[in-house]
This record gives sequence, structure tokens and C-alpha cells, in this order.
Amino acid sequence: MPNDRRPLIAGNWKMNGQKSDGLSLAEALAQRMKAESDPVFDMVVCPPFTLVADVGNAIADSGIGLGGQDCHTAENGAHTGDISATMLSDIGCGFVIVGHSERRTDHGETDLGVKAKAAAAQAAGLCAIICIGETEAERDAGQTFDVVKTQLSGSVPDGSTAANTVIAYEPVWAIGTGRTPSLEEVQEVHALIREELTKAVGESHANGTRVLYGGSMKPENARELIALEDVDGGLIGGASLKAEDFWAIAQSCV
Ligand code: 13P
Repeated sequence: MPNDRRPLIAGNWKMNGQKSDGLSLAEALAQRMKAESDPVFDMVVCPPFTLVADVGNAIADSGIGLGGQDCHTAENGAHTGDISATMLSDIGCGFVIVGHSERRTDHGETDLGVKAKAAAAQAAGLCAIICIGETEAERDAGQTFDVVKTQLSGSVPDGSTAANTVIAYEPVWAIGTGRTPSLEEVQEVHALIREELTKAVGESHANGTRVLYGGSMKPENARELIALEDVDGGLIGGASLKAEDFWAIAQSCV
């Protein structure tokens, strides 16, 4: 961290939560956030689509941001089962996650498709949280840098800015496994991401863009990860489902 990027702590609830679970989690976070006089971090929650509107109401006026977990490339039309960025924006979202590795795997999403989703999100006034990260086999084969560079240049729309783009580096093998890369490994990938962003969007936007780490982030390891020079917060899965743990991670920014 030490720089003027404001840390962002984002919770990806994935396909979890009945209405009552989501509401109590959102209310618990809103209560904590409202009690914080001058938070030094931004917080965002990305519930499943069924809960976005209700969670939005529960966190209203708390300062916590709202996000979707995916969006379509089109604004509207014949796309059964999909949700557009415009629809997310319409119900109060400021963010949307695109290109999560689970979507790349489950739905065959490609860099090109992710780039189109990110562009649609930006056009709708949302900040796109664009996910990239290598598999374990790619890391073992020494391909991490190449994979990250390819995904980044393939998934980030031209003209992206620090205001409408967040990058989340999520090594696939660290998601939900309790394993993380070493601090040195995390920092070297984040530094590479910033270097590549500089080439793509220019120094000023690259320096202002928040690059989050995701993959088994928890209260026990958040502080040291977030303290790394080019890590500007986290995209948190499992630990974002418990208000206490998610809040403790946010407190690591303090
Ligand atoms: P975990 O925090 O459960 O490892 O998930 C990370 C993630 O995929 C966030 O998008």
C-alpha cells in the first residue's frame, strides 16, 4: 500500500445465501460501517442477483458499495437468464465483477468476452472489477507472468480509467483452498500488473487503479497482503460471508 490509492475491500458472496442470511450479513456490515467516523477504506459487497436489491436497501446510507457478480455485454434484449450492466446500475450498483475464474471455467468465458462485459459495465457507469489469475498447472510450468499479461491485455477495455476499473489478481489455485502465494510472489505479480497497465492506459491511470488480491484472504493474512506496495485491498469469497471476518479484513487497512 503506501501510496494514495484508497484500499478497497470487496466481498464476492458467490452463489451463497438465502434472503435472511444476506440481509443479516448486510445489516451487520452497515451497522459497523455507520459507526466508523472516517473509514480509510472503501467496502463493496457483491451478493447473488436474487439479493442485490434487498442488500442495497439494507446498506443504503452506510457508505458500503453494491456490486453484481457478472453482467451481459448487451444493454437489454433476448438473453434469457442474463442481467445487464444497465440493470445493475438501475438498482443501485456501482460495481460489477467480470471474468471471475469460476465464470471462465463454468461458462467458458474468454478474455475477449470479459473485455466486452467490462466495456458494457463501464458504459453503464459501473466500475468493472476485472479478474485474472493463473491455474496451478500454469504456475508450476513457470507461466504465471505470461498468463497474467495475456489475460490483462485481453480483458481490459481500451480507455479504461482508474475510476471505472479495478483489477483483481486471483490465482485460481488459491481460491477457496486456504493456500496463498508467498508475499513476494503476490507483490511481483501485482507489480507486473501495474507495469502492464501503465503500457495500456498510461501512468496516471495505472498508478490510480486499485489492484486487489483474491484467494483465501482472511483476517489472519489480510494485513500483510494489503501492506504490500502494489496490493490495494482484497476480493474476498468465503471470509466475506461472515460479518466479523470481513470486517476484520477491512480493519487490516487501518
Ligand atoms: P476465497 O476468498 O473463498 O478464496 O475466494 C476468493 C474469490 O474467488 C473471490 O472472488
